[in-house]
Amino acid sequence: MGTTTTSTEYSVRELVDCSPVAAVVSDPRKPDNPLIACNHAFVELTGYGEDEILGRNCRFLAGPGTEPWLTETIRKGVRDRKPVMVEILNYKKDGTPFRNAVVVAPIFDDDGELAYFFGSQIELCEDSQGPSLTRRVRATEKIKDLSKRQLEVLRMVASGLRNKQIAWELGLSEKTIKMHRGIAMEKLGAQSSAEMIRLAVEAGI
Ligand SMILES: Cc1cc2nc3c(=O)[nH]c(=O)nc-3n(C[C@H](O)[C@H](O)[C@H](O)COP(=O)(O)O)c2cc1C
Repeated sequence: MGTTTTSTEYSVRELVDCSPVAAVVSDPRKPDNPLIACNHAFVELTGYGEDEILGRNCRFLAGPGTEPWLTETIRKGVRDRKPVMVEILNYKKDGTPFRNAVVVAPIFDDDGELAYFFGSQIELCEDSQGPSLTRRVRATEKIKDLSKRQLEVLRMVASGLRNKQIAWELGLSEKTIKMHRGIAMEKLGAQSSAEMIRLAVEAGI
């Protein structure tokens, strides 16, 4: 991550470190969009060591049974800079396949330029439609408690915008955005921005 700590870099570390579920960040400004950060939960989930993860494109999770059309959905999200969620067949380091409910979302910098992609992975139980459906229903339920303004802010956070840009787009002060964001986070019971982004994408907003 380098030695200088810009506000953007700080958020990136925070995104993965504060996430209780597996999370990664990639740098689309580097050739082949390599991963530049991952958390312990991602190491635990995949079985790869950090040294085998950083510097590589996340396609190493794909394998023979990975659905090409789902990979295409992620590819399209990356290309269009839009958040996506798919439940795709992936493989751990030891070759064990698992159903991965992965969210991939863009993160823009303070100037509105694409800076990073955030990825968050949850292993689903292959036999049932349960876990993902439950997560979707739960996310939708939680979002119902938000005011129109909070929902608007959440939607913009999930699309990768920073407080500064959200403030500009909505014609409000950054302080007001921070307030709405804080209340939304509390109502959603989210511990981190990573969780908030994931919830928003799960709820399909
Ligand atoms: C931040 C981020 C996280 C990703 N996470 C996954 C993942 O968990 N599983 C997966 O199959 N692809 C994931 N991808 C997509 C792959 O990196 C890659 O784009 C995809 O497999 C297409 O590969 P291709 O470029 O060889 O066509 C992720 C991409 C990004 C940018």
